[in-house]
Amino acid sequence: MAEGRFTNPVVATLAGIKDFFSPQKLASRFSDGDRADGMTVMITGANSGLGFALAVAFAERGGKVIMAGRSRIPEAGEKVKKLSGSDKVEMRFLDLSDIGSIHRFVQSLAEDGILLDVCILNAAVALPGSRKTSSGQDEIFLVNYLSNVILTRLLLKKSVIRQKESGIPSKMIFISSDSHQGASSIDYGEFGRYFDYGVSKAISNYSYFKFVLNTYATELSRRVNDTSVKVSINAICPGPVHSNIVKEAPWLLRMILKGIFQAVFKSPAKAARPVVYMALSKDYDGSTNEYLHMFNPKRMDPKVYDPAEGEKLWDRSMELLKNIDPDNVSYSG
Ligand SMILES: NC(=O)c1ccc[n+]([C@@H]2O[C@H](COP(=O)([O-])OP(=O)(O)OC[C@H]3O[C@@H](n4cnc5c(N)ncnc54)[C@H](OP(=O)(O)O)[C@@H]3O)[C@@H](O)[C@H]2O)c1
Repeated sequence: MAEGRFTNPVVATLAGIKDFFSPQKLASRFSDGDRADGMTVMITGANSGLGFALAVAFAERGGKVIMAGRSRIPEAGEKVKKLSGSDKVEMRFLDLSDIGSIHRFVQSLAEDGILLDVCILNAAVALPGSRKTSSGQDEIFLVNYLSNVILTRLLLKKSVIRQKESGIPSKMIFISSDSHQGASSIDYGEFGRYFDYGVSKAISNYSYFKFVLNTYATELSRRVNDTSVKVSINAICPGPVHSNIVKEAPWLLRMILKGIFQAVFKSPAKAARPVVYMALSKDYDGSTNEYLHMFNPKRMDPKVYDPAEGEKLWDRSMELLKNIDPDNVSYSG
């Protein structure tokens, strides 16, 4: 059975508190000189929490920001404009639990001739249990993992993200979680199959699918950057963030977790800093398959780097998409 590192939300949250006090090796490398002038940055799940703070930070640093999300349109975008003092901010609808929505979103970017310099795969859910999407998959599986496969494949196939003329690779950053460490190997018996489960399995799935996501990101980099780095594909855990991630938890648990978040977790603006650093600093130009845990360079779980596992995950993901996405021909292969 697929298992993530945690099954208890309070234990997972307490592990986050420990992270809060860990040293931040590269924090001093981040500077006001890391600018986004002339760049186009797209962030998924940008209407809330870390994604919203990232939108403000990139807009403040001179970038054109595309906020992708399924709610608070256009209010969140207007708020980002106000907070950053920039009007180079737009919102586009994207519901990652709806495969058709991902196709329409990328099509709109391609039709508008958008070329991304930075793409932040940030959106995710933490649900109290299983929930079936319209295409029949479990929502945590689809939103936290498979939608990112469809989105990144489409962005690359339609050249919305590609190697820039300057030769400096564009950057794709997967927002992960250090809770992916220690997950079980990928269980292909469960892969993409819907079944009912409750809170413990949901918490376990959250960290397990971050592990699966990191394995995909590593394999994607192997395939895209076969001879040279064309698109930097890296992952980062922002550490504990005081965000809306537990908004669907049962009432009492939500109150407990919110209390802990408020007391000791970082503000989204502070948690966004290592992500902005990884996206804009020259330190990460041309790098790929790197992982930061906040400002600390680290190895991901060793299983993430196994090429055989990466290839198997790729093949099984494409196989599944052939069955559930009628438009899969636009990115498969
Ligand atoms: N909070 C933490 O302590 C922590 C720690 C490590 C890693 N992270 C990671 O940080 C990232 C951001 O999370 P957060 O903490 O900022 O939580 P958050 O405030 O809940 O933000 C999550 C974002 O994802 C969006 N989203 C969820 N389902 C979506 C869908 N079907 N289609 C499009 N967008 C969808 C949400 O939109 P709605 O507002 O419409 O739901 C929201 O904008 C996630 O990848 C999370 O796993 C968080």
